[in-house]
Amino acid sequence: MSLPAGFTLHDAHLDVAAQTAMAADLRAVAEAAPMFHPETRWGKQMSVKMTSAGRVGWFSDHRGYRYEMQHPSGAPWPPIPDSVLTVWRDVSAWDDDPDCCLINYYGEGAKMGQHQDKDENAFDAPVVSISLGDPARFRMGGTERSDKTASVELKSGDVIVMGGPSRLAYHGVDRIEFGASPLLPKGGRINVTLRVVNR
Ligand code: SIN
Ligand code: MN
Repeated sequence: MSLPAGFTLHDAHLDVAAQTAMAADLRAVAEAAPMFHPETRWGKQMSVKMTSAGRVGWFSDHRGYRYEMQHPSGAPWPPIPDSVLTVWRDVSAWDDDPDCCLINYYGEGAKMGQHQDKDENAFDAPVVSISLGDPARFRMGGTERSDKTASVELKSGDVIVMGGPSRLAYHGVDRIEFGASPLLPKGGRINVTLRVVNR
């Protein structure tokens, strides 16, 4: 099948210098708000590590998926770096800045199961997602779990926009090619997901 309407891939949106600068900005976020392995509502530890920047941060435990005002340590989430906001302003076609910048780190063997982004109250705003580091096989379907899916290879510097009909499409990451990119000193992949949470 082809990719759903409203899905846009901005191939190589960021050059290596911009990728390197953004990775440093994200490292600073993770120093202030350390990465953690969240648990699903079924008590299974996710293979990705994550943290957030912005007004709210995404969180998950046995009580379910939600946005929290603070990092689990009780510290506030750091502000979204300007390098990241610039990408949102370039590609989102949305007037306001995002509320949440979720930062996922994929180490060797990490992946993400098919899911919808639906913990927000603003489905008319797009989701913008930035890839840094190792390439990933991103797979996207439709708004029903049983819909056919299509895969796209996301490389360091690629940016995708999921808007319109694709905003609530199922998506996930089947695998990363660990160590294939020289961007991150220890290898792995960073995904930055920007979302408007409340309208
Ligand atoms: C996500 O859907 O939260 C992450 C997608 C990605 O890693 O590209
Ligand atoms: Mn998602």
